[in-house]
Amino acid sequence: MKGKDFLSIKDIIPEEFIQLIQTAKDMKDHKTPQILEGKTAALIFEKPSLRTRVSFEVGIKQMGGTSIFLSNNEIGLGIREPVSDVAKVLDRLVDLVVARVYSHESLIALSKNTTVPVINALSNTAHPCQALGDCLTIFEQKGTLKGLSLAFVGDGNNIAGSLALACAYSGMDFGIASPEKYQLKPEIWNEANKLANSNNTKMKWSSNIQEIVSDADIVYTDVWISMGDEEEKEERLSTFSSYQVNEKVISYAKSDCLFMHDMPAHRGEEISENMLNHPNSVVYQQAENRLHAQKAVIRNIFESNH
Ligand code: NVA
Repeated sequence: MKGKDFLSIKDIIPEEFIQLIQTAKDMKDHKTPQILEGKTAALIFEKPSLRTRVSFEVGIKQMGGTSIFLSNNEIGLGIREPVSDVAKVLDRLVDLVVARVYSHESLIALSKNTTVPVINALSNTAHPCQALGDCLTIFEQKGTLKGLSLAFVGDGNNIAGSLALACAYSGMDFGIASPEKYQLKPEIWNEANKLANSNNTKMKWSSNIQEIVSDADIVYTDVWISMGDEEEKEERLSTFSSYQVNEKVISYAKSDCLFMHDMPAHRGEEISENMLNHPNSVVYQQAENRLHAQKAVIRNIFESNH
């Protein structure tokens, strides 16, 4: 892993990404080395969290470290004091910063003003730890990543963007079905498309779900209203209403396709009532694999930099 941070999939190279999945699998199957013994991590969460917070806290503890949870109420990132001041103080007190932020710029400011590693625990544009855990899940289920095709249905959001990059890195085709207005942001599409071209994988967008989901190996969806998009709730609910993943949509994909969702899930919105319990659903395995993937990221950072 180059540098000290994991803010985006692009912070590592494709070979490292594949290696991280292997490391995550090893961490899952074997006793955890005490890489964080005597070390402390600050966990900054500007937004709510279940999976990410618990998996980081548990993972850090399993690796011998201690974590301190800092909610936005306490530190008011950029409001109570500038992000740069928060960063410079934490840099003197802790060994690792994990941050979930409204604006990706805050992560960049944290990174610029610290010497300790910074890990992205979700920003408005990226969720690399999720994409890594998801690829571990796909690898466990399918025995490979290369040559598979992932169909994302819904908002071209942070999850979709990180998955597009992860697919290009791991040899999977990536298709996204979304309303025209909610495609991947052009800079993320262009970046992922460039990587896809150099790794001989394909990227495709359509507003037509069937076109994207047909013959897919993985069908993936996420909420229509991400944290921070609440003001657009009514407009989004109406624009996305025909983008629900349900039994009919899944039937367009391969019969052994995986159904994936990073959760929290909203039944009656992006998924029908029973999709999480669909026989093809691997959503709870996905949630567990966050732990193993993040431990692999931490191991990689600390073994190569310290
Ligand atoms: N796109 C969602 C992901 C939640 C884990 C959000 O940003 O709220």
